[in-house]
Amino acid sequence: MRAIQITDLSGPETALRPVHLPEPAPSHVLTPGQGVVVDVHAAGVSFPELLQTRGQYQLKPQLPFVPGSEVSGVVRHAPAGAKVQPGDRVAAFCMLGGWAEVAVAPEFLTFPLPPQLDFAQGAGLILNYHTAYFALVLRGRYQSGETVLVHGAAGGVGTATLQIAKGLGAHTIAVVSSDAKEVVARQAGADEVLRSDSAWKDQVKGTVDVVIDPVGGDQWVDSLRALREGGRLVVVGFTSGSIPEVKVNRLLLNNIEVVGAGWGGYGIRKPAVSREIGAAIANLVDEGSVLPIVGARFPPEEAPAALRLLESREATGKVVLEFRGST
Ligand SMILES: NC(=O)c1ccc[n+]([C@@H]2O[C@H](COP(=O)([O-])OP(=O)(O)OC[C@H]3O[C@@H](n4cnc5c(N)ncnc54)[C@H](OP(=O)(O)O)[C@@H]3O)[C@@H](O)[C@H]2O)c1
Repeated sequence: MRAIQITDLSGPETALRPVHLPEPAPSHVLTPGQGVVVDVHAAGVSFPELLQTRGQYQLKPQLPFVPGSEVSGVVRHAPAGAKVQPGDRVAAFCMLGGWAEVAVAPEFLTFPLPPQLDFAQGAGLILNYHTAYFALVLRGRYQSGETVLVHGAAGGVGTATLQIAKGLGAHTIAVVSSDAKEVVARQAGADEVLRSDSAWKDQVKGTVDVVIDPVGGDQWVDSLRALREGGRLVVVGFTSGSIPEVKVNRLLLNNIEVVGAGWGGYGIRKPAVSREIGAAIANLVDEGSVLPIVGARFPPEEAPAALRLLESREATGKVVLEFRGST
């Protein structure tokens, strides 16, 4: 099969190689037992793969390896008792190995692909949406009608969070860095859009219930100031490259919280929670609230350009590699 490997840790321009490899067996899955084997049509491109080309992600497989945490495609083989069957269109989270024509995912992280979504949209349905739901609802304890502010709001996690929050009845505020990203944030359901280089904090001070932050960096203290009493700032990632530190007196003074949300490792250890989140997202797709925004599609051999788009901060929505046709 065709696949893209990370062969060294020299960065996105030089670390990737197109290769031909034997197809993986059902046992080539990150959890014990047999996984679901998927003929991959599209694979998601995400920040972790960018970091993996430099050895900067927490998951550090032995070189060379096939990256790619999520795919969508058609089931070729499913273990006994699986909820999906050969021939089903699915979205699946495999953690690694997704940038290939065939990938294997745990059964509990393989979900039917709703008929209204194409394969490229399916390749953006798990990592970002499960993370967004986990961060907003399970970790951020979001309640219907609350105000949710989202940083990096035109990105993968950002657009997913806006759609889920809107679908669950939130007033949504997006923070973005450009006009083009404002358009995407509004498309994803932002009620208000603020620019990250403006005095956005003055407009929202003390009015926000939940901040979802995949960016980190300089805006951290302003995010805390944005919270009203009882508000929660949920830490999701650090695309800015800087991990903020918090003076905890700020939490005490306003009775606010900082909460971490790490979905990947958690979801893999908790099949029941992953199924619950998958069902909630399927409902939101059915209601029309969740519709992954695909910002760019590349052939697999152009994976370096796909990663460059993320690194240059120009990506919007989900970036995908297409291994087969998209419908
Ligand atoms: N905690 C978890 O379980 C979990 C799960 C999935 C992903 N993540 C993390 O969440 C983060 C966001 O992922 P994503 O897929 O949404 O990424 P993305 O699509 O590239 O979006 C990230 C956004 O971050 C902002 N940003 C600010 N400074 C940046 C910089 N120096 N370089 C690039 N972007 C910058 C950009 O928005 P503006 O230009 O508008 O500022 C960009 O749109 C990543 O760190 C990822 O590892 C965490």
